[in-house]
Amino acid sequence: MGKRKLNGSPVARMREISTWISSVLDLDELLELIIDTATRMMEAKASSLLMLDHSTKKLYFKVATGEKKDEVIKYEIDLGQGIAGYVAEKGEPLLIPDVSKDPRWYKQISETIGFETHSIACVPMAVEGDIIGVMEIIDKEDGSSITEEDMKILTVFSDLASTAISNARKINQVKQENKDLKEELGKRYQIIGESISLQHVISDAYKVANSKTSTLILGDSGTGKELLARLIHRAGPRKYKPLIVLNCAAFPETLLESELFGYEKGSFTGAVTRKLGKIELADGGTLFLDEIGEMSPAMQAKMLRVMQEGAFYRVGGRVPISVDIRIISATNREISLEVTEGRFREDLYYRLNVVQIRMPSLRERKDDIPLLANHFLSIFKQEKGTPELKISDTAMEKMLEYDWPGNVRELSNAVERAVVMGNDEEIRPEDLPISALPSQNANMNVGMTLKQAVDRFKKEYIERNLQSTQGNRSKAAKILEVQRTYLSRLITKYGL
Ligand SMILES: Nc1ncnc2c1ncn2[C@@H]1O[C@H](COP(=O)(O)OP(=O)(O)OP(=O)(O)O)[C@@H](O)[C@H]1O
Ligand SMILES: [Mg+2]
Repeated sequence: MGKRKLNGSPVARMREISTWISSVLDLDELLELIIDTATRMMEAKASSLLMLDHSTKKLYFKVATGEKKDEVIKYEIDLGQGIAGYVAEKGEPLLIPDVSKDPRWYKQISETIGFETHSIACVPMAVEGDIIGVMEIIDKEDGSSITEEDMKILTVFSDLASTAISNARKINQVKQENKDLKEELGKRYQIIGESISLQHVISDAYKVANSKTSTLILGDSGTGKELLARLIHRAGPRKYKPLIVLNCAAFPETLLESELFGYEKGSFTGAVTRKLGKIELADGGTLFLDEIGEMSPAMQAKMLRVMQEGAFYRVGGRVPISVDIRIISATNREISLEVTEGRFREDLYYRLNVVQIRMPSLRERKDDIPLLANHFLSIFKQEKGTPELKISDTAMEKMLEYDWPGNVRELSNAVERAVVMGNDEEIRPEDLPISALPSQNANMNVGMTLKQAVDRFKKEYIERNLQSTQGNRSKAAKILEVQRTYLSRLITKYGL
């Protein structure tokens, strides 16, 4: 930004200052404007604004006016030294009509630069009670002394400068926080992986991002379907509009309906106010329908109507509301099978499935394991505050051997647990809540009776579930939907 020409009447410039002060386009320029205006109003010979550096306890010149301004600006003053140092230390204004009679005067600067000084007025600048610097003026242009009236004007200007500095600091702080937050979020939503299969997925995601094409994301649990949906949203023109996520499995049918479509006040008992549904909230942006395979036939029919007509009714509403949404859906079910077997509407499937992206499971892209493990390590060790923590080679081998039925989510959880439970230097194999069982079904050779094979499977499957619950039998029993006592019997039977 170029230097601003300082002209116009003091009043006009005061007005300019006050409009600037909240926006703080350029703090240095604003401070210059403030001090220059103050100097002119008081017809002072020179003036300066000094900032206090709390760490070094020194005052340095931020802005100066007067014929020697370029020289004076090179100086630094200790807190407590000279008149400016005194004012900064005590936090009280000071008016000295004759500096030669005041022992606090630090005359070196004036003498070295050859600037004759008789009187000085100096006032502190403070933000929320903390001294941040001082503002001072030296002599009047006509040789007369600085008056109490001048002190009042100086105080007004030093308050203006304090406000400007405080605003600028707040703005910078918010900017910095924003930046930190963005970096943090960026890291959380980054898709890690260099395997060919994942690269194909990402390149497909970028291709569809720019269109409104409905996209269906398939893949096992924990493979990153939601992460990919977020990428598609962020990479396209709708990124400044909302991405609304709705997990279709999380609600019973009637609730899902009001979640999706919203309702009018009084449409049912308990509807005391109007509530907007996710479809409406996603207007202009993206609606991510997670676990779409769990949607009931009645809801499927309603959703189909929205997709065909681009409009819907709130529950209890009579006016159709049209929306512009992009729909991404995801499921870990074999949805084409659901269609053939009549559990999922074919017409809706075709609407959702214009482009299909299948997330590879982690066991299909084992070469990404080290990258992913280190990515999660860097996140969790930062949270724990152990920057030196590494993954030992043996632990990495164990991770590479394991077949990760819970995919990336399981890997992330495993690393998190190892970081929390292990020591601060390295993650050892025993810190990982996994055991390198042979890949699922790998040793299911022919030649066993069906009962033997089933027993073998049961044993491994129970073992695996116990690992994922860290040995908690109640939790495992819940997942397996069996009685805890029955599970205990099986554990004994299989010698687990
Ligand atoms: N490629 C990846 N890079 C980094 N993190 C990933 C990756 N894939 C998945 N994750 C992380 O793994 C976890 C699970 O991912 P996400 O929720 O997207 O999976 P999902 O396929 O939607 O699973 P589910 O079917 O169980 O809902 C998240 O914490 C996500 O950030
Ligand atoms: Mg998900």
